[in-house]
Amino acid sequence: MTEAILLVGGKGTRLRPLTVNTPKPMVPAAGVPFLTHQLARARAAGVTHVVLATSYLAEVFEPHFGDGSDLGLDLEYVTEDEPLGTGGAIRNVASRLRSGPDEPVLIFNGDILTGLDIRALVSTHTDTGADVSLHLTRVEDPRAYGLVPTDSTGRVTAFLEKPQTPEEIVTDQINAGAYVFRRALIDSIPAGRPVSVERETFPGLLAEGAHLQGMVDSTYWLDLGTPQAFVRGSADLVLGRAPSPAVPGRCGDRLVLPTARVAPDAKLTGGTVVGEDAVIGEGARVTGSTVLSGAVIEAGAVVTDSMIGAGARVGARSVLTGAVIGDGASVGADNELRAGVRVWCNTTLPDGCVRFSSDM
Ligand code: GDD
Ligand code: MG
Repeated sequence: MTEAILLVGGKGTRLRPLTVNTPKPMVPAAGVPFLTHQLARARAAGVTHVVLATSYLAEVFEPHFGDGSDLGLDLEYVTEDEPLGTGGAIRNVASRLRSGPDEPVLIFNGDILTGLDIRALVSTHTDTGADVSLHLTRVEDPRAYGLVPTDSTGRVTAFLEKPQTPEEIVTDQINAGAYVFRRALIDSIPAGRPVSVERETFPGLLAEGAHLQGMVDSTYWLDLGTPQAFVRGSADLVLGRAPSPAVPGRCGDRLVLPTARVAPDAKLTGGTVVGEDAVIGEGARVTGSTVLSGAVIEAGAVVTDSMIGAGARVGARSVLTGAVIGDGASVGADNELRAGVRVWCNTTLPDGCVRFSSDM
């Protein structure tokens, strides 16, 4: 097992405004573009050749990762002219694969933070002689995912992407976004048109009687598709709850990159990350949050479970909980922003213009 495909071409719509200027896999988590963690974990599991299937904002990947040698990888890039969907993207990179027809090829969704034992997934695949093997995890509410029921031997019996009706919710096991494909099956996906691996390829293979094998585990797993999940994942990397060899210089329950400036009495806790050249003012408290490069948190601000975009500003004494501030945005002093609030890139909120009152 030496090669992998990483699907990194999605638009990251649910993560906007973080993905307005940056594709989802390049948004920093624990101080480095999220993709770095996935690449480092793949390398640690023995993968040496990786093909990135890019589409949205494709041009930013190669200048950052180059030929992959910094990570000990041989990295290639393939960009779709039009988005081809997950299956189309896999098919579109087939010419770059070096494996023989029966050899296993790993495929990863580019937004999953997980402690998956990659070698164990490959062993499952080889031991069972499956055509495709899928990492599965259990979640409380499976509706936003692909449901994957299995029989008593772990063999997949159906694949139901994003179930619409209560009758379709037949299991709490979901597709965790990591597969091993027998290489020949990748070549059998139709070329040159959009294909969803979840809605078309997997159900089609099952109908043809192909052997799809599931491997369920209960290791750390998070889809970083929403701002809340992304901030949580970044904090979990810093806290060591999510494993990655690529977290730079962790220090207790916070990560402050070398060129950041933090006032001596500021409090940073809960896996908070402070990016390059960011500034944290006197008495500010930042918990479980990500402050991207060049952002400024002014004196006395209280920031919890929030994402502060590159070059953004949070004014003095403002209180942010579960908020997302786009790159270059400016939140004036004495504002109170609560869960789910998203301030778009480069916009300005004047001083004291947003408040919450319990007696309304
Ligand atoms: N190259 C390329 N081209 N990549 C794409 C495209 C495309 O047209 N569309 C999506 N991707 C990439 C995304 O960048 C992401 O890494 C991955 O494919 C999955 O897309 P998401 O948009 O994140 O899908 P999802 O989270 O709604 O659902 C998927 O992941 C779930 C687990 O988190 C499905 O695979 C579900 O079945 C699964 O449960
Ligand atoms: Mg996703």
